[in-house]
Amino acid sequence: MNDRLRLTVLGTGRLGITHAACMASLGFDVLGVDTDARKVGQLNAGHLPIYEPGLRDLLRAGLDSGRLTFTTSYPQAAAFGDVHFICAGTPAQPGSDHADLSQVHGCVAALAPLLDRPCLVAGKSTVPVGTARRLAAELAGACEGVELAWNPEFLREGSAIADTLAPDRIVAGVTSRRAEGILRQVYAGPIAGGTPFFATGLETAELAKVAANAFLATKISFINAMAEVCEAAGGNVRVLSEILGADPRIGSGFLRPGLGFGGGCLPKDIRAFMARAADLEAGEALGFLREVDAINLRRRARAANLASELAGGDLAGVPICVLGAAFKPGSDDVRDSPALDVAQILYGMGARVTVYDPAALANARRACPELGYAATMAKAAQDAYVVLLLTEWPEFAGLRPGDLASMVARRNIVDGRNVLDPALWRAAGWNYGALGMAMTPPPASRSAVRRSTTGRGHGGSG
Ligand code: UGA
Repeated sequence: MNDRLRLTVLGTGRLGITHAACMASLGFDVLGVDTDARKVGQLNAGHLPIYEPGLRDLLRAGLDSGRLTFTTSYPQAAAFGDVHFICAGTPAQPGSDHADLSQVHGCVAALAPLLDRPCLVAGKSTVPVGTARRLAAELAGACEGVELAWNPEFLREGSAIADTLAPDRIVAGVTSRRAEGILRQVYAGPIAGGTPFFATGLETAELAKVAANAFLATKISFINAMAEVCEAAGGNVRVLSEILGADPRIGSGFLRPGLGFGGGCLPKDIRAFMARAADLEAGEALGFLREVDAINLRRRARAANLASELAGGDLAGVPICVLGAAFKPGSDDVRDSPALDVAQILYGMGARVTVYDPAALANARRACPELGYAATMAKAAQDAYVVLLLTEWPEFAGLRPGDLASMVARRNIVDGRNVLDPALWRAAGWNYGALGMAMTPPPASRSAVRRSTTGRGHGGSG
């Protein structure tokens, strides 16, 4: 194997393009491989088929440097690569929670018979635990010196480049010192920058990814469960979240209450994790994730009901403005988007829904053609009876009550991401509803009175 490793990246979705461009930026020669000839042509011409801040420039820099190219040819990939990264998608199987591994298996099946020299095949895709062991067995029949490792990816959409070049940790599931050494060579830059490197077995590496996503989902659903209680009891979940987050054992990350999690990863990963645990007869261990999922989905129904309450209880024919379609800001991804799901629920309740999003309109229109769309926020808000803020893009989070007042027919707003200042909006004559706050706060909650009289934050009663 060369001193200067040559890398292939099999699968050019979000993960693959990001990984390929980042590895080229670190100085490696990289060949991206995809069976979709149109996509390969686009990428070689410097066109990025997805929205990811900074990635188009990095892609073009890689192409211009000559270190990055894309191909449809597996024979070329087999001849080129010292390390082959599997970056294929693992969506849910139709009608099931189990992951569909056909693309991952497809990569290995196409590559294995062509390998004629020692190399490392390193999986990055999110897979059910046990997959790597099976793939290693498949590769065992390939040429001598071909090995499998699992090297899960933890990147987030919207900060994919930083997450790849300076990750929180690197996990290398390996079965030999040699494989560990090769991955240490690939990630020498981030390791030198202080990123911890965990060498582990294949199963632990696979679990590291799904366990992390399950924990993040659980944290979000925990605060959203507290939001439900706050709504019932007259508490304020935003303040509660700050108080909880101030405890370093809990931490404030992923404790933002609101419409909950969506996207192509967290929802499908927790379901696939439960399905895999059940296969392993360890289903009971992950029973709580069923509740995490249910809490998350209940937030969507609650947001729609809040809009209905603000509109007087009947949404039939009512014009509604939905701000946000992406599953989170900084992305054009609408896969399992909470915002779009709420828009559809409202549509199902008879509302006339108009959606605006700064980046995800085209994808939203493709996914939900029945909804109305507007090219600007002002057009979406025109004559609306209720405005719902469902994805916290900065231009929505920075809204002031006066910005929409002259456009809407009625001043009702649902703050689905808890980013607006309720006092400001109420003072400007808006009915303000948020997830995790009672619609009308009790005039002087007993705990607030007690706090002010004792001057301490313990509510006076111990
Ligand atoms: C997630 C993980 O954060 C990554 O570490 C992982 O690599 C990735 O999945 C993956 O499996 O590939 P991503 O889906 O890009 O990344 O999005 P997140 O930033 O995790 O947000 C997920 C959802 O949770 C969004 O809908 C967001 O709005 C929501 N969220 C996040 C909250 O509702 N509250 C929070 O406090 C944080």
